[in-house]
Amino acid sequence: MEGILHRPGLVETLRLEGRGDGMITGTDTMDQVAAAIAGCTLCPLSLSRTRTVPGEGPVPSALLFIGEAPGKKEDETGRPFVGRAGQILTDLLSRCGLSREEVFITSIVKCRPPGNRAPRRDEIAACMPYLEAQIALLSPRVLVPMGRFATVTVFGMYGLPFPSFGEVRGRGHGVRDQRSGREMTIVPVYHPAVITHNPPARRDLEEDFRKLAGVIRTSPGSRK
Ligand code: URA
Repeated sequence: MEGILHRPGLVETLRLEGRGDGMITGTDTMDQVAAAIAGCTLCPLSLSRTRTVPGEGPVPSALLFIGEAPGKKEDETGRPFVGRAGQILTDLLSRCGLSREEVFITSIVKCRPPGNRAPRRDEIAACMPYLEAQIALLSPRVLVPMGRFATVTVFGMYGLPFPSFGEVRGRGHGVRDQRSGREMTIVPVYHPAVITHNPPARRDLEEDFRKLAGVIRTSPGSRK
């Protein structure tokens, strides 16, 4: 399970190499990570963004939801999932007995790609240390990548094989963070925005969140 999270000193390396003003260290708080993101110029998305969208929620947090990239509304407000996809996510969370305020919500990249195009490989690579730092600070029990794109990226971080999104979604995949030794469960689900362009997918999305609620109840460390 060798992945980006397990590479020693990635965050420190960034700092020592002094790559731009988005520098973070292994001892930062979430506010400091957000400040580093706000000053980040490591990829071209920094040129077109209005605001950075680091994510929000309690620290630490047992549950971490990870989308793809901020959209228009998120870029305007600096807050994750506040547009139509955010309304759907809030509704799905409440069906699991959760409120937005109880979970941490972020995305793979923290700046809006122009025209909502998919983030590019170099943009993801530049942004990855921020997600890595967030996971270290949050100590989540369950990671929930939303959509194929976030799932491929998170599986890559942990060196998990990715046969297809259909084969991995709605199921728990156990990983161990080799630095902290903590066990975590990755539960990929459809991205909430799927039903804005494919309304019949609502059933699959709701089924994913029902299964997620089951994994949350039974995963190690659950208090539910
Ligand atoms: N979609 C995402 O993946 N992230 C957001 O913040 C909003 C929409």
